[in-house]
Amino acid sequence: MFRISKTSTRKLATASQQYSLTDADRIFTNLYGRHDFRLKGALKRGDWHRTKDILLKGDTWIIDQVKASGLRGRGGAGFPSGLKWSFMNKPGGPDGRPRYLVINADEGEPGTCKDREILRHDPHKLVEGCLVAGRAMNANAAYIYIRGEFYNEASNLQTAINEAYKEGLIGKNACGSGYDFDVYIHRGAGAYICGEETALIESIEGKQGKPRLKPPFPADVGLFGCPTTVANVETVSVAPTICRRGGDWFAQFGRPRNQGTKLFCISGHVNNPCTVEESMSIPLKELIEKHCGGVRGGWDNLLGIIPGGSSVPVLPKKICDDVLMDFDALKDVQSGLGTAAVIVMDKSTDIVSAISRLSAFYQHESCGQCTPCREGTTWMANMMRRFEKGNAKVAEIDMIDELSRQIEGHTICALGDAAAWPVQGLIRHFRPEIEKKIAQYKQ
Ligand SMILES: Cc1cc2nc3c(=O)[nH]c(=O)nc-3n(C[C@H](O)[C@H](O)[C@H](O)COP(=O)(O)O)c2cc1C
Ligand code: SF4
Repeated sequence: MFRISKTSTRKLATASQQYSLTDADRIFTNLYGRHDFRLKGALKRGDWHRTKDILLKGDTWIIDQVKASGLRGRGGAGFPSGLKWSFMNKPGGPDGRPRYLVINADEGEPGTCKDREILRHDPHKLVEGCLVAGRAMNANAAYIYIRGEFYNEASNLQTAINEAYKEGLIGKNACGSGYDFDVYIHRGAGAYICGEETALIESIEGKQGKPRLKPPFPADVGLFGCPTTVANVETVSVAPTICRRGGDWFAQFGRPRNQGTKLFCISGHVNNPCTVEESMSIPLKELIEKHCGGVRGGWDNLLGIIPGGSSVPVLPKKICDDVLMDFDALKDVQSGLGTAAVIVMDKSTDIVSAISRLSAFYQHESCGQCTPCREGTTWMANMMRRFEKGNAKVAEIDMIDELSRQIEGHTICALGDAAAWPVQGLIRHFRPEIEKKIAQYKQ
C-alpha cells in the first residue's frame, strides 16, 4: 500500500463507530479561504505531494484505491466512483479515440454551495484531482464545465491551472511522469439542466443543453463522440488524498457502502448556515447542532428538513430527530442524500409555499424534450400555486400525487424525478397543511 500520511496507519474504526471528523482528517483545509489559494499555499497544505508517484502506480492501482475507499459520486446520484471510472478502460484496450474527463462544476441544485468553495479557495485540489482521475481513466484531457455566474471561481481556477502548467505539473510529461494531460475550463451560461451529464456534454459541444438518450453512455460515446466520464468537483478533488492516505483511510468514515468524508452545506433556519466537511453518516441533528449553532429557536422549533438539495423529498421533524446523513439511511426514509445540501425550515415556514416555489423552479428549468416533464412540471406548478392559496379541491391532492407519478421514471433525464419528489414528500408528510389551506379558503 502506498502511504504517506501518519494518520493513515491509525487503527480503522469498524462500521458505524466513527461519525465525527477531526481536523487531521479533513481533506479541504482551506474551505473558508483563510489561506492562500495559489500554488504556494496549496503546496503547504500537502497538495501535489508525490503526485508523480501516484501517476506512476498506474491506472489499475488508482482505480483500486478509489474502489477500496468506497467513494460514491458527490454530484447527487451516488454511483460508486471506482467502478464508474473503470468503464473507461475497456478490456480490448484503446480504440484510437481520445478520452476525456469532464468535471461537472455547474452546481445548479438549489441549496448546494460546496463545489464553489473548492473552486474558489482550494482550486489546486481539483486540478491535481483531474490529473489523478484522468490518469485512472487514461484520459487525454479534462474539461471543467463551470457555471457562468461563478466569476471568481473560474478566475481562481484558471490561476491554478496556469500555475500548474508553468511548473510542469500538468501538460506534456505531467509531473515528470511521462503522461501528457491538458486541463481546460469551459464556462456555461447558468442553466440547471446543463448539470445533467449529457446536457453538459452537448453544451460543451456548442449545442443547446438538452440531455441525450442513453445508451450509448458517455463512457462509449461522450464528448466529441469520444469515451468520456463526467464527475463532480468534490468527487474528483478527494482522489489525490485517497491515493496518498490509502483507500482504507477514507473508508473508515461513515457506514459500510456510505464511506468517506463529505461536504455538507446547511442553509435556512439555522443560527449559522455553513459548508462543512464531516464524516458521512453523521446524525442530521448532530450536524446542525455542532456546526450551525442549532435550529433558530431550538430543535423543537423545527418543522422539517430537505436533506439533499431541492430534488429530494422533505422530512418532518420526527424523522430528522435521529436520521443519519448518508445514502442508505436517507433512502430508507424515502428521501435522499443528493448533494448533501441541507435546507432547514423552522415552524414559521409555509411549507406549501416552499414546495410550490420548487415546483416553479423545475417548470422553469425543464428543457421541454419529454412530454411528461414539459407538461407535467407546468401542471404541477400551476396546481401548487393554487394550493398555496387553498384555491383547490381536496381530491386534487391525490390528483397531483398521481400526476407526479406519471412524470417520475418516464423521462429522458432525472429532472422529471427531481420535480416529482418534493411534491410527493409534501403530500406524504404535510398533507394536513394543504387541507387546512383549502378549508380556510372556503370560509
Ligand atoms: C437536472 C440535473 C442537474 C444536475 N446538476 C448537477 C450539478 O450541477 N453538478 C453535478 O456534479 N452533478 C449534477 N447532476 C448529476 C450529473 O448528471 C452526474 O450524475 C454527476 O455529475 C456525476 O458525477 P459523480 O459521479 O461524481 O457524482 C445533475 C443531474 C441532473 C439530472
Ligand atoms: S426530463 Fe425534463 S429536463 Fe430532462 S430531458 Fe426530459 S424534458 Fe428535458
